Amino acid sequence: MKQKNIGYALLAGSMLFGLTVASGAYAADVNKLAENCAGCHGADGANSDSHIPNIGGMSAKYLTITMAHYKHKERPCVEIEVQSGAKKGTKTDMCKVVAELSDDDVKQLSDYYAGKKFVRAAQKFDAALAAKGKAVHEKNCEKCHSESGSVADDDAGILAGQKIHYLKEQTEFFLAEKRPMHKKMAPKLKALSKDEVAAVVEYYGSLK
Ligand code: HEC
Ligand code: HEC
Repeated sequence: MKQKNIGYALLAGSMLFGLTVASGAYAADVNKLAENCAGCHGADGANSDSHIPNIGGMSAKYLTITMAHYKHKERPCVEIEVQSGAKKGTKTDMCKVVAELSDDDVKQLSDYYAGKKFVRAAQKFDAALAAKGKAVHEKNCEKCHSESGSVADDDAGILAGQKIHYLKEQTEFFLAEKRPMHKKMAPKLKALSKDEVAAVVEYYGSLK
């Protein structure tokens, strides 16, 4: 009888423990997780560094897929210094950042940023080049990146108003086959001249 009681106590104790752990893991505070991201991407996923993309307002699906790419090192991770907050000045990259996240953290962060508004970057651009890029976009890219790459539900990132430096870098990664490309996007991007790639990127960056 005595033993049974101990058994119950242990059982109750471990159930309680299990619950605490489970709810703790499930409810990892998304605001806390996002503080780390804000050190580079800014509050609500918008920042003024030309090397760091704005991420607020992209679709949850795109964000989840993208973070899986980083987790499996399927796309390059550019090393950069944390811009603000507790870890300011230390260097890291997206592969290292995502490696520390559970699947549930990724899901929560994806929903969190999908709920923010995409902020178009205030950046300098070459208007003549951007005008050429508009035509390149309409002919080759609008089909999947609709309304000039501004529709989150396309699940293809957001190009309109994204950082020019970031877009240039990513097109280079795609063309060098360092980042996987949608199989129907590949022939479109590969068919462009260097100047046309520069122009289309300038076009996205010009959109306010
Ligand atoms: C040290 C700075 C830094 C931190 C911290 C950081 N990022 Fe990034 N992030 C970058 C840079 C730079 C890029 C673009 C270059 C690259 O792909 O490596 C990027 C790219 C991304 C992209 C891809 C955007 C796209 O259009 O495909 C997503 C999504 C992203 N980060 C989410 C996050 C989340 C979520 C966190 C927090 C858990 C986070 N980042 C923390 C610097 C950072
Ligand atoms: C058949 C559909 C399709 C076409 C056509 C297409 N894309 Fe894409 N694009 C996608 C998808 C899907 C993604 C997201 C890929 C991923 O999951 O990493 C993407 C991603 C991108 C990205 C990265 C966005 C980011 O936030 O990192 C850039 C830049 C891009 N496309 C440029 C272009 C350009 C320029 C053209 C026209 C020459 C083009 N795409 C044509 C489907 C397409």
